[in-house]
Amino acid sequence: MVTRMDEPAAKEPSPRKPNAHQAPEACAKRPPQSLQEWKVWGTYDPLWGVEAWPGKRKSDSQAWSDAEFERLGATDWQDFRTRWERYGVGPYRCLEIGCGAGRLTSQIAKIFEEVIALDVSEGMIAEARQRVNNSAVRFALSDGTRIPAEDSSVSGVFSAHVFQHFDSLEYAAYYFREVARILQPGGSMMIHLPVFRSHPHTPLLARKALQLRLRIGAAAVQLRRHLLARAWGAPFMNMIYFPEEWLFETVAAAGLSEVELIQFAVRSNGAIHPFVMARKGTSNSESIEAFP
Ligand SMILES: C[S@@+](CC[C@H](N)C(=O)[O-])C[C@H]1O[C@@H](n2cnc3c(N)ncnc32)[C@H](O)[C@@H]1O
Repeated sequence: MVTRMDEPAAKEPSPRKPNAHQAPEACAKRPPQSLQEWKVWGTYDPLWGVEAWPGKRKSDSQAWSDAEFERLGATDWQDFRTRWERYGVGPYRCLEIGCGAGRLTSQIAKIFEEVIALDVSEGMIAEARQRVNNSAVRFALSDGTRIPAEDSSVSGVFSAHVFQHFDSLEYAAYYFREVARILQPGGSMMIHLPVFRSHPHTPLLARKALQLRLRIGAAAVQLRRHLLARAWGAPFMNMIYFPEEWLFETVAAAGLSEVELIQFAVRSNGAIHPFVMARKGTSNSESIEAFP
């Protein structure tokens, strides 16, 4: 089995404990620091930045070819789509958060009437524009603090391999609120993110050791960003992990219902993909027009 570098190798805890009192609204005013590395990935090696498979960097002899990269998008989307259809989603308009080089965007556009493809990296959007030849797709550059869609204006929100790179859980909480704002009643979201289940009986010493390790990890990320800003290092990918109980609590608090966690292995490389699914409530969910 090939592992993707931007997939979690093992279940790992997040630096944050579940906390209902975090302040996601502060994220609306503070662009995430992870913008820095994603802007660089967009020009440095966008395809590998999206799918960090061993031996597939642009400098490798077996670097991603356009055809291979597109095929991967097609098979991954088939895996994602069948699960989303089972949950229920309508074909009107989709927001894709973190479209990257567009390998999934072109697939999403085959079944939605319109797609808003959002990203924080100009380079990624430029790459996606070249690949996605579909007038139903509108690309939108964000600084990570704003989702450019009206209230109740989309029937679906999709994201893969993006929330795992956020600065913190607060940014995800902020995005969930935005998703609840822009979804039509009855609309649904399917968002990929790495999850873990915390164990209340973990000994205190082990928990302290873990917190220390996470603090050291966070300091190392700051140092790497500092170096990257001075062009002294290659771009990197920071990973965060989401506690299951935090997810259920936070997605519901954002105003979404029918929250579910699903996991499955994609056929491309067998990597297990967890997704959080949720719906904006409606008094008559039977009225949603689903995919034909
Ligand atoms: C690993 S790539 C995945 C791309 C695409 N979803 C796919 O699976 O092909 C992560 C993408 O998320 C974007 N991204 C990172 N932080 C973001 C944020 N806060 N809001 C929107 N996009 C973000 C990055 O610029 C990058 O294009």
